Amino acid sequence: MSDKLSLSPDEIQNLSRAATDLAASYYDSLSDRPVLVPTTAQALRDALVEPLPQDGADFDSLLSTIREVIVRYSRHNGHPRFLGYVASPGTPVTAVGSMVEAALNACVTCWRSAPAATELEHLTVDWLKEMLGYPAAAGGLLVSGGSMANFAALAAARSARFPDVVRQGVAALPRRLCVYVSGEAHFSVRKAAGMLGLGENNVRTVKTDRCLRMDPADLERLVAEDLAAGHVPLFVSANLGATASGAVDPIGAIAGIARRHSLWLHVDAAYGGFAALAPSGRPFFEHIAEADSVALDPHKWLYLPVGCGCVLYKDPSAARAAFSHDAEYTRVIGLERDEAFAFWDYGPELSRPFRALNLWLLLKYAGARRLGEAIENNIACAKYLERLVKASGDFEMLAPVELSIFCFRYAPPGYAGDLDALNERLLVQLQRGGSSYLSNARIDGKFALRGCVLNYRTTERDMEILLDDVRRAASR
Ligand SMILES: Cc1ncc(COP(=O)(O)O)c(C=O)c1O
Repeated sequence: MSDKLSLSPDEIQNLSRAATDLAASYYDSLSDRPVLVPTTAQALRDALVEPLPQDGADFDSLLSTIREVIVRYSRHNGHPRFLGYVASPGTPVTAVGSMVEAALNACVTCWRSAPAATELEHLTVDWLKEMLGYPAAAGGLLVSGGSMANFAALAAARSARFPDVVRQGVAALPRRLCVYVSGEAHFSVRKAAGMLGLGENNVRTVKTDRCLRMDPADLERLVAEDLAAGHVPLFVSANLGATASGAVDPIGAIAGIARRHSLWLHVDAAYGGFAALAPSGRPFFEHIAEADSVALDPHKWLYLPVGCGCVLYKDPSAARAAFSHDAEYTRVIGLERDEAFAFWDYGPELSRPFRALNLWLLLKYAGARRLGEAIENNIACAKYLERLVKASGDFEMLAPVELSIFCFRYAPPGYAGDLDALNERLLVQLQRGGSSYLSNARIDGKFALRGCVLNYRTTERDMEILLDDVRRAASR
């Protein structure tokens, strides 16, 4: 055995063959596993905690800990009936890609540091724009996720309008800046307003209609109110697939209001963005080109492994106003314009992983057509669930299904108790049961069982099993 930090080609083959066997049998067993095996923090600590290891261990014993503890006690996001939150299942080809990515270990700060990786990122970001129908002249970069994309978009909007704030801080702001979201917006927009010094209290909640879409008349009213109070309406974030309900805001009408009042229009498409590849999702993108920025998450509905979000800026110079920095250690010397490109001018990170590799790999390997079919099938599953619920005598829908998110509850006829409490208990039972996994939402004040179909393995049969699982949990 050579030095543990520098292995021979044969040793690398042996390690990776053992790890690949584990990954292959994991994928093979995924659908038959419980989504989650109940455990406790203490039980996991008992199995894992030990003093800092001084001497190395052999790889097989580590793989056995991975198999027996880490794999066993993970929640399996790739299971066909894991329907909680907004979680990608990942794909086998990107699992293999992640190994290559780690072997290359590129640090994608700028062209000079990672020439091929930088060009691959430009290419894949161009493909994302093409998928959406977003202007080819727009800029953008891959970030850690949707929260970071929302943060970067708000930072760009703030600095584009008030460039002095970058150097002088929020004290340079003449008046209070206002941000507008519906009550369905992801909390990361409000959090970004806090982090950027705009203040979470200056995020206005616009009313929604029956289908939980932002009401443009209420947006207009709030903007007028803020203008009359001497504030500056800065930024409106429209949902293209809200986290809890999947609602899609009327982007065309919101864009009209944004134009009239010089508001920056951001579209949070972190969940819904890749519905653009599916024929039934396509109409939602009619007005996407009017957005000043867009948040996307390939690590959601493009099935990429966790850690790949994207922010698009219609005018990339707005992002430069927020993020561009010069320091002697990053000064680019002796390179032409394209080769002088630096990602740190467009986003908050300096060291960045090679996110584009898996994005490129999946798009090239599976192709946009196959991905679009899978996404269309996810939407069909959610609509099928909605039909099953409506045809049942014991369930009711709490929100319409727009994309692949569904919110419903168990409401057996004649039940005189508290339906919120009943469904809360059901959710816990269901999650413990291991056959199907939902998360929760509150819709119109009611506790909802919430599912999101985001997995190419999920079928309409899984929707039937899910309802049976909920009924079984109720009978317990
Ligand atoms: C609409 C929306 N925006 C933003 C986010 C945050 O994304 P991330 O978890 O990648 O930071 C989510 C997460 O579910 C989301 O659904």
